[in-house]
Amino acid sequence: MQKNPIIAGNWKMYKTINETLDFLKILSTSLNNQRADVYIAPSFTSLHAAKKAVKGSKIKIGAQNMHYESEGAFTGEISFKMLKEIDVDFVILGHSERRVVFKEDDCLINKKVLTALNSNLKTILCIGESEKQREDKMTNEVLEEMLTKNLLNVSKHQMENIIIAYEPIWAIGTGKTATSEIAECAHLHIRKVLTKLYNKDVANNTYILYGGSVKPNNIEKLLQEHNIDGALIGGASLKVDSFLEIINKS
Ligand code: 13P
Repeated sequence: MQKNPIIAGNWKMYKTINETLDFLKILSTSLNNQRADVYIAPSFTSLHAAKKAVKGSKIKIGAQNMHYESEGAFTGEISFKMLKEIDVDFVILGHSERRVVFKEDDCLINKKVLTALNSNLKTILCIGESEKQREDKMTNEVLEEMLTKNLLNVSKHQMENIIIAYEPIWAIGTGKTATSEIAECAHLHIRKVLTKLYNKDVANNTYILYGGSVKPNNIEKLLQEHNIDGALIGGASLKVDSFLEIINKS
């Protein structure tokens, strides 16, 4: 790792507004001069209160998804306009749970990425292979295809607002963390693809986070790798103690 790490919590469908505020109160008073930049993506209903609660701290608040249109007849969806109104700092797009459970395809994710970037919203783009694809030795191909399709028409300049999260599906919520060597190998490949799609500078400057069963006991080893710039954390970000321990070890 060469850059200041980003430690991001993806809270998925957990925590009410009150639970969010309780967590943020403890977290913001516990942060002082830690190296890591801290990102949290709570539920949509908690976003507004969370943004207000972290004012003046270094915690960034983001959404876990959004629609690509600014408004329209899309029951149940949230637009970038709504997110911008409450001044969220980032949005997570293409999480494997969106791809697998909600059938979002590369073309839809690309539309969302372009909308987010065109409205100056920092985007954490998640990519990662399934267990079967890894067993079939397709990991590199899958990652290249996802990057190529999801970043279609994204300019070099817009890449400044892209953070990639490598999240192998087989490691999410399973307790099976990719070894730091496996993760490093995938991150290196992602940088090679970014070099091919853009150039070396873009590839080197883009943050690449690892996600998948990151815990206080494996964060240090992961961050020792040259191409791992931080982590996107599910389960271990829900308890303030374990999240803080991860931040403190980063
Ligand atoms: P876990 O840390 O629970 O494996 O989840 C990872 C993840 O999906 C973060 O987006």
